[in-house]
Amino acid sequence: MAVLIAPSILAGDFAKLGAEAAKLEAAGADWLHLDVMDGCFVPNITFGPQAIAAVRKETKLFFDVHLMIDRPERYITDFIQAGAEMLTLHAESTAAENLPQLLAAVAASGCQAALAIKPATPAEVLFPYLDTLDMVLVMTVEPGFGGQSFMPDMMPKVKALREEITRRGLDVKIQVDGGITTQTIGVARAAGADVFVAGSAVFKAADTRAAVVALRGAA
Ligand code: DX5
Ligand code: ZN
Repeated sequence: MAVLIAPSILAGDFAKLGAEAAKLEAAGADWLHLDVMDGCFVPNITFGPQAIAAVRKETKLFFDVHLMIDRPERYITDFIQAGAEMLTLHAESTAAENLPQLLAAVAASGCQAALAIKPATPAEVLFPYLDTLDMVLVMTVEPGFGGQSFMPDMMPKVKALREEITRRGLDVKIQVDGGITTQTIGVARAAGADVFVAGSAVFKAADTRAAVVALRGAA
């Protein structure tokens, strides 16, 4: 499994999101992680499809859109039209009976589909969907804010998912998001993650390229 580094623009300057995305592309990031928050599913509000469509014009980076919104079925078409290439929904954000149809709709649109779980949600919740997913996201902080501490106790969930994915012979990426630094990325990699979101670790660094290289090296 190749390591993919996905800096989160949540930690960037919102007055110049396009320039921040271009900077990350020049720094060698693999994906751009875009955190969408609605003030309901999480206690914070960020940006929506209009902002994402605007940033889309400024970079060729792969757009990894993490939806932290209630009832995402209302908006998935808007986010795909805005340029999402991976769309991640939270398993907790809608009724479980909606998920199969939602994931199928994302895939039918040509966008990759992922399901995320919050720290309190067991890994097994994702098992029924694994064969329809391109990626799972194991949150390593409570979703809502950047700059929180990595939760190492999430690693057994990453291990369980990697084992199940391997056992079934599937090709599903495992993303971790929250508190990823050069100190924590190795632990997550060892547990079986292959896509690493990093907000603060990239944006707080004086040299963005060096920060991306250091994360890749530490993974
Ligand atoms: C938190 C977001 C994360 C956040 C990570 O809800 O999903 O993507 O930007 O930020 P850091 O890397 O600072 O923990
Ligand atoms: Zn995120």
